[in-house]
Amino acid sequence: MRIGLLGCGNVGGALVPLLRDRADEIALRTGLRLEITRVAVRNTARDRGLDLADGVITGDATAVVSDPDVDVVVEVIGGIEPARGLISAALAAGKPVITGNKELLANVGVELFEMADDHGVDLLFEAAVAGGIPLIRPLRESLRGEPVRRVMGILNGTTNFILSKMSAEGADYGEALAEAQALGFAERDPTADVEGYDAGAKAAIIASIAFGAKVVAGDVYHEGISGVTAADIAIADRLGYAVKLLGIAERDDDGAIGVRVHPAMVPMSHPLASVRDSFNAVFVEGDAVGQLMFFGRGAGGFPTASAVLGDLIDAAVNLRRGTHAHPGRFADARIASIGDSRAEYMLAIDVDDRPGVLHSVTGVFADNQVSIRAAEQEGAGDEARLVFITHVAREADVQATVAGLRNLDVVRRVGSLLRVVGD
Ligand SMILES: NC(=O)c1ccc[n+]([C@@H]2O[C@H](COP(=O)([O-])OP(=O)(O)OC[C@H]3O[C@@H](n4cnc5c(N)ncnc54)[C@H](OP(=O)(O)O)[C@@H]3O)[C@@H](O)[C@H]2O)c1
Repeated sequence: MRIGLLGCGNVGGALVPLLRDRADEIALRTGLRLEITRVAVRNTARDRGLDLADGVITGDATAVVSDPDVDVVVEVIGGIEPARGLISAALAAGKPVITGNKELLANVGVELFEMADDHGVDLLFEAAVAGGIPLIRPLRESLRGEPVRRVMGILNGTTNFILSKMSAEGADYGEALAEAQALGFAERDPTADVEGYDAGAKAAIIASIAFGAKVVAGDVYHEGISGVTAADIAIADRLGYAVKLLGIAERDDDGAIGVRVHPAMVPMSHPLASVRDSFNAVFVEGDAVGQLMFFGRGAGGFPTASAVLGDLIDAAVNLRRGTHAHPGRFADARIASIGDSRAEYMLAIDVDDRPGVLHSVTGVFADNQVSIRAAEQEGAGDEARLVFITHVAREADVQATVAGLRNLDVVRRVGSLLRVVGD
């Protein structure tokens, strides 16, 4: 099987040696010898330290896709264009495609899956969500019979690294981000990671696959971690919770799908609380199967290339047999409004330390039908802070409470609003 590789950066550059080292064993097990025959990159002059024959590397990705000597295409360029056009051309030519491109699939995935199905070829994408962790295939195949209720996960290693540092060292967000950048865990422009867009794209793909529905990146509610303070983490820790950026996809009893990314307080006893540093984990809850957790390296060249190679072997075997994996039908999704979502909330408020303050503050909660499960005061005088944990409440009511609190002249600052998840 002759493979055309589009992109040879972190992932493509790891796939080349991984496939070379595994080729004999793959041939033994499948009867197929996989060989990378064409590689498209942007800068053909760069020395990549890879053992590729002369003439394999080209700057013309379109020529790789249309080359009659390429049977299967791997797209690890990233972004929407030219990846979308290249993948469409490969599928239209009857060539299976493997991609790790979450941005593309979270925006136009359904269009591409339908196109692959129409042409009777595979479009496989295990690497697009949580890198090396097998998740898409378990959701698509092993859990096909399962009424999945909720999938939630730590889907971004950069933000988990930053939150772990803040928790372990009491560091501020800015210090932890700078350390993540110095160690290569965060980009120079960290927006996609820290504001939850990367995790949001993955959550949209997870929701599409878990619920068989057309969920796109634009359906996802986002809140990032840039507003989380060392004080929030210290309070959560004292109350027995870890702060994690979670991507959540869930379906309610009426079939509406909620997809959101936000920082959350997870009880220390929950398996997701112990997932630290740049690791990822995905927690699946189903009516019949109960609870499952998938854990590992959600990014990095070799972990991601491992997922790509698994897909590549499947696609090659299917191509030889003249079959392909059916993506199934995607129904139109009814997206639940974030305002209707329900959770317990932790809210920290800096207040004036004088008689009657507690009464005014709790009055705002009562006016908005938000009931308080626990309250405590930290510090005194200028340092006075009230910390509340609510009973399960509706998001819209809690947001109205926050707005009401901001209008009280005894409230100096309303801190982060953290949802409690997994209790
Ligand atoms: N890195 C990870 O840990 C990870 C994890 C999961 C999924 N993914 C996904 O995998 C994909 C690739 O990620 P990556 O980290 O490997 O990216 P990367 O290191 O930036 O590599 C991108 C590659 O694409 C090439 N390229 C860019 N534009 C091109 C064009 N127009 N024609 C031909 N080649 C072009 C680049 O060429 P040059 O080398 O010449 O610049 C480079 O080799 C993305 O979709 C990403 O979201 C990555």
